[in-house]
Amino acid sequence: MDRALIVTLALLTAGALTGPAAEAGDPEAGMDAFATYCADCHSTSDDMKNRKGPSLFGIIGRKAGTVPGFEYSDANKATGWVWTQDQLRSYLPNPRAAMPGTKMKFDGVPTGEEVEDLIAFLETRK
Ligand code: HEC
Repeated sequence: MDRALIVTLALLTAGALTGPAAEAGDPEAGMDAFATYCADCHSTSDDMKNRKGPSLFGIIGRKAGTVPGFEYSDANKATGWVWTQDQLRSYLPNPRAAMPGTKMKFDGVPTGEEVEDLIAFLETRK
């Protein structure tokens, strides 16, 4: 078998085993989604300014409920969560289901693609 064919077969096999890869988010689209869904309540500027919600500057990797000067719900503080990408993936589609008792009054991000875009955007804000 020639080399190109072997490589092709290897790639096809890998594709068949793993299925379609999850699309990586697009930070530019995420900035738009943030303006649409989140910016009324959250800032991502590096001055750590809190609005109706806590500052989301540097949110990825931070422990939940720890932005200075923001009065969190007990529900948020009690989670002990760290805001990893996966934690955001499970929270953002339906925050009040993921964290019963949260005071974040937001129904959730409607599509998985927008969640990925938002995460890609938030990764740039640190
Ligand atoms: C109506 C206002 C509002 C909107 C809209 C909103 N949030 Fe929030 N958010 C809050 C409030 C208030 C809290 C604090 C929740 C608590 O203490 O229970 C919060 C908390 C959070 C936290 C936890 C922060 C921490 O330090 O633990 C994350 C993450 C978050 N919001 C992300 C988002 C994202 C991303 C969006 C847009 C998709 C969004 N929020 C939309 C008000 C909002």
